Amino acid sequence: MYKIQTLNKIDPEGLKIFPLDQYEIASEFSAPDAIIVRSQAMHDLELPSSLLAIARAGAGVNNIPIEKCTEKGIVVYNTPGANAHAVKEIVLAAMFLASRDIAGSIEWAKGLKGKGAEVAGLVEKGKSNFGGTEIRGKTLAVIGLGAIGVLVANAAQALGMNVLGYDPYISVNYAWKLSRNVKKAEGVESLLASADFVTIHIPQLPETKGFINKDKLKMMKKGVKILNFARGGLVNNADMLEAIESGIVGKYVTDFPEDELINVKNIIAIPHLGASTEESETNCAIMAVNQVIDYLENGNIVNS
Ligand code: MLT
Repeated sequence: MYKIQTLNKIDPEGLKIFPLDQYEIASEFSAPDAIIVRSQAMHDLELPSSLLAIARAGAGVNNIPIEKCTEKGIVVYNTPGANAHAVKEIVLAAMFLASRDIAGSIEWAKGLKGKGAEVAGLVEKGKSNFGGTEIRGKTLAVIGLGAIGVLVANAAQALGMNVLGYDPYISVNYAWKLSRNVKKAEGVESLLASADFVTIHIPQLPETKGFINKDKLKMMKKGVKILNFARGGLVNNADMLEAIESGIVGKYVTDFPEDELINVKNIIAIPHLGASTEESETNCAIMAVNQVIDYLENGNIVNS
């Protein structure tokens, strides 16, 4: 019997793929063959000598001690693309949130309760206080054209945006095949200089830490709106706070609610909900389970 340990709640639609005559599944095992994990940080966990594979039901692998796994010959998978539609949709929502003060106006409208005949006048006032801008016709810079970046680029074009793409890692031809009509930026500087919105979809690696920093912020248009549904560490928070203060950045929408970003005017912090949809939980679990089965039973290492 193979022993599969689940850290975090893994969607049952995925777990039910395991044939129960060959697999035991539990949240604790002293000698698991494989671990399936969602977001729990594993850096301080002891990795048992029985462990052959870790499957991360999600895209980022920064909760996994990759170097330790490599030393011990433990295969690590992620589930690229499985949550891409969920993240694409929240990025679109973030663009709307950044353009129209939907969140602020909802809070404000709570104050209308019990106002009776005054409501009509107050609503008129609300209309003038909460005016926004449209995203149609605006320029979106997509940094990172992997599964998520390409979906965001295509969806933004459907909304009438002018989309510029840049990817420091993957083959440009490959990305451009996937993303219809996205214009290639000459380089980061020209990309950032013309963008009304910037969305980041690159992994957090030692070399991408603080990718959005003082220097890049200086290249941007005044009032630019920045969206970060990739990883908090890709943005230098001190530099971002300065750019918010000076008005270079009009809005920063982040899925990483780090302490210094909370309750700051023009920063919208969301509690890491990018991939939290029912469909995405199911897709990630199914992909992770199939990867584990394929590895344990056939020795295949396919991460796609
Ligand atoms: C991911 O890496 O898949 C996303 O950030 C979603 C998550 O971890 O919750």
